[in-house]
Amino acid sequence: MVEKIKIRGGQKVSGKVQISGAKNAALPLLAASILSENELHLKNIPPLVDITTMLTLLENLGCSSLVTKNSMYANSVKLKTDGIGNLVAPYEIVKKMRASILVFGPLLARFGRCSISLPGGCAIGVRPIDLHIRGMEALGARIELKDGYVHAVAPNGLKGAEFEFPISTVTGTENILMAATLADGVTVLKNAAMEPEVVDLANCLNKMGANISGHGSKVITIKGVQHLKAAVHEVIPDRVEAGTYAIAAGITKGNVDLIGVNLRKLLPNFIEKMEQIGLIFSDIENGLRVQSSGEILPVDIETEPFPGYPTDLQAQCMSMLCIANGISTVKENIWENRLMHVAELLRMGADIAVCGTQAKVCGVKQLKGAPVMATDLRASFSLILAALVARGETVIDRIYHLNRGYCCVKEKFAQCGVVVDKIMWVGE
Ligand code: EPU
Repeated sequence: MVEKIKIRGGQKVSGKVQISGAKNAALPLLAASILSENELHLKNIPPLVDITTMLTLLENLGCSSLVTKNSMYANSVKLKTDGIGNLVAPYEIVKKMRASILVFGPLLARFGRCSISLPGGCAIGVRPIDLHIRGMEALGARIELKDGYVHAVAPNGLKGAEFEFPISTVTGTENILMAATLADGVTVLKNAAMEPEVVDLANCLNKMGANISGHGSKVITIKGVQHLKAAVHEVIPDRVEAGTYAIAAGITKGNVDLIGVNLRKLLPNFIEKMEQIGLIFSDIENGLRVQSSGEILPVDIETEPFPGYPTDLQAQCMSMLCIANGISTVKENIWENRLMHVAELLRMGADIAVCGTQAKVCGVKQLKGAPVMATDLRASFSLILAALVARGETVIDRIYHLNRGYCCVKEKFAQCGVVVDKIMWVGE
């Protein structure tokens, strides 16, 4: 198990990076397999710890999965759920990964009851699931919270209904969307999340025979069907991974070809902000080229639901702004506790002042290597980015967060001329 990594600063990221399938698209797609007793064949599944956790949860319920390695960066998974005999998502698994809640809608829709452990605390915020519960209630489920579990029943099946989310929620939208595919009648979801991962899920469900329209807009309409059939679906590329490597090129004044993804539609606001900072984007065959202009200019960013600036690229951008030529502001609007990387960046010589969920980042000429600690998945990569440009050596502890959402970092960096012996994976 890799616990720490050591990175020597002064490295330039230049080369090609193959972008893997999106973790946050793959997780709901795996859960969607529960909706049908027929096989779901998913391609371009990234080999990540969170994916393994979801497969463990599905196996625990009685599903079987056949994983085939297609390349170092991608697996295909065939899921059969005709053997489901357990309708409980236990605390031992849910506490490891909050996205386990995604089995709630599919189990309830297909079997008329289920029990899901409440996820409990989380590093980046409180993360309640009240909107998942209210959405299921709107579809006619009866819900009881007891002994740390959500117990849900819908003895006569779910019924189509209109439900408006008071705030945008990604997995909340995905959960109610999946549940509504098998409900009796029409469901209209208002103020639904518009993230590309929600759209990918709806596209796959339609391949399975669901009748969904409006996905990608704020209003999704689902006409319930009785059964879903077998389908094959390829997961969309990971826009957060791609954005992270774009920042790696920007912060190190290098250039990177992001292969297998065109971010213009997937990350519109991000591209705009990166251009203001000084990155240059150009279309290439099968991807997008990102080049540094040689400058890092200050910018103000504020995280928002899609198509706004994504929270999952906030920490990485902040690392780059630490060495910008001026003062930037970063406002985190999605999670109330997602500035924990600031304390670590300060250890590396950054000049950042935090007030609530807003940070004022004054660019410094040079960061300095230091021992630091990864606090969550995206924060762990933000520290790697800072380390690449710092003077001296940085040792990043608790790097296990990284493997939840970024695959083959060492190999992908090696493709970009980041000399592998300069990145030592302690404990390998
Ligand atoms: N919220 C509620 N009640 C709910 C659900 C959400 O108050 O019932 C609040 C949350 O506390 C948060 C806001 O609504 O303040 C938005 O949360 P959302 O539900 O959209 O987040 P999520 O679905 O749990 C997904 C991603 C996150 C990403 C967020 C925001 C997956 C598996 N996870 O989480 O990804 O940050 O959307 O875009 O899709 C990551 O990959 O590093 C990650 C954390």
